[in-house]
Amino acid sequence: MITRSAEKLLRLLAKEFRSVAVVGPRQSGKTTLVKSVFPRKPYVSLEDPDERNQANNDPRAFLARFKNGAIIDEAQRVPALFSYLQRVLDTTKKRWIIHLNRK
Ligand SMILES: Nc1ncnc2c1ncn2[C@@H]1O[C@H](COP(=O)(O)OP(=O)(O)OP(=O)(O)O)[C@@H](O)[C@H]1O
Ligand SMILES: [Mg+2]
Repeated sequence: MITRSAEKLLRLLAKEFRSVAVVGPRQSGKTTLVKSVFPRKPYVSLEDPDERNQANNDPRAFLARFKNGAIIDEAQRVPALFSYLQRVLDTTKKRWIIHLNRK
């Protein structure tokens, strides 16, 4: 495994902020990075059709499943989720890692 310099920065940002977005080119190792830095954090990918359906159709229930936040992979698939996430960030102490790909 290649050691990623982004790992240290990601840990630092996740301590400081309740949500961190990881953005980068295709196949650059984003998913591998977030899973290895936060192995105990629930992981959900919005590439999964069932997860994407719930995130689209019932965003409040989708976010409420995660008692202390989650890693949300492929988050760009459900842009409307961000407004709901903002509400959760404003009203709870849950911590999130948001992982995006360019469209
Ligand atoms: N630190 C690393 N050292 C060596 N190989 C790695 C490392 N991180 C990722 N890889 C390999 O690179 C490939 C892409 O990794 P990964 O799926 O994490 O990237 P990604 O940025 O999430 O891709 P996508 O844009 O498709 O979501 C995988 O085959 C993975 O095993
Ligand atoms: Mg990925």
